[in-house]
Amino acid sequence: MTGGAEGIGKAIVERVLRDGMNVLIADSDEEACKETLTELLPFGNVIAAVCDVSNEQDVGRAVASAIERFRRLDFLVCNAGIGSHGVPVTDLTLEQWRRVIDVNLTGCFLCAKHGAEHLRKTGGSIVNIASTRAIQSEANTEPYSASKGGIVALTHALAMSLGPQVRVNCISPGWIETRQWKKESKRSTPQLRAEDHAQHPAGRVGKPEDVASLVAYLASEEAGFITGQNFVVDGGMTRKMIYIE
Ligand SMILES: NC(=O)c1ccc[n+]([C@@H]2O[C@H](COP(=O)([O-])OP(=O)(O)OC[C@H]3O[C@@H](n4cnc5c(N)ncnc54)[C@H](O)[C@@H]3O)[C@@H](O)[C@H]2O)c1
Repeated sequence: MTGGAEGIGKAIVERVLRDGMNVLIADSDEEACKETLTELLPFGNVIAAVCDVSNEQDVGRAVASAIERFRRLDFLVCNAGIGSHGVPVTDLTLEQWRRVIDVNLTGCFLCAKHGAEHLRKTGGSIVNIASTRAIQSEANTEPYSASKGGIVALTHALAMSLGPQVRVNCISPGWIETRQWKKESKRSTPQLRAEDHAQHPAGRVGKPEDVASLVAYLASEEAGFITGQNFVVDGGMTRKMIYIE
């Protein structure tokens, strides 16, 4: 489980622990890892590895730690991600571009590469976390949108390469409010306005648990006929006409 120390990833870890899975959190934030382990240990068997998902050695080590501890790998969630710099494309440096692509997209590739053989043995599955930014944009978000579009494509490519033993799907969240799922020093109470909720066809802003419950379903045998897909979890926002009358 990458990026499991905070935010959506932390909610996914809590959910799958409650469902009885053993979990290794691979996350670059050591402080957040420590806090999350303390908070989530009552829910089940959880360990952490400090890991930058863009670093192949780190990813290899994290997978090896999971195998050493749990003896098998049934499920991989590639959730670690960073945002764009909000810089106009004409000012964006190659280094800034590469960092977002490396963490968000290359991280998913590296996890699949190092997890694939273990998942083949167990008939396991992968869920990658993309974004609705894969299919719609604001200005100055090129690296993030490109990385997330890449994840959607990587997902169906992996589904063809690793099937039939391994199913691979991705989830594209819309606006998910994560402030209460951050590490303590960054945690705050969301101050959402009525219009933040009302603009969503589902009537509210998303919660990390909305993503976690779909992850849990995709991991289960009930989802055995589903692979190569992208599931949008956005309260209907990407289905809404927004032309001004
Ligand atoms: N929150 C949203 O509204 C939203 C919407 C669409 C997609 N997403 C995607 O969902 C995922 C989680 O988002 P979030 O809002 O929970 O983010 P977050 O910032 O709250 O949590 C991200 C986690 O990833 C970890 N991380 C960052 N870089 C890493 C790296 N190089 N290696 C390992 N771990 C790293 C962080 O330490 C953190 O624990 C991301 O991929 C994000 O792009 C979020």
